[in-house]
Amino acid sequence: MENTIQLTVIDRDGISHELVAPTDMNLNLMEVCKGSDLPVEGTCGGMALCASCHVYVLSDHELPEQSDDELDMLDQAFFVKDNSRLGCQLRMTEAFNGLKVQLAKV
Ligand code: FES
Repeated sequence: MENTIQLTVIDRDGISHELVAPTDMNLNLMEVCKGSDLPVEGTCGGMALCASCHVYVLSDHELPEQSDDELDMLDQAFFVKDNSRLGCQLRMTEAFNGLKVQLAKV
């Protein structure tokens, strides 16, 4: 489909979900997960202030640089790994087609 990408999201029970996300609606990964009824709270609404959208990026996609706000938030989050990102800071673009992430523990 035009203007969509495919994503794989592994939930906290280890179940894999194949999602289709639009790239022309300025959505981020947190919003896409919420829209697919995955257990991602997005408490702060995508302001990099809560870490409830914490994911581990499993595929080797090139990711945008982390902002200071994202780094600060991940500094305070639990279960942080080298591949941790805040889903709300990953805006859905064509470059993310095939992205695979796992929801971090909360
Ligand atoms: Fe709060 Fe991402 S939704 S940090």
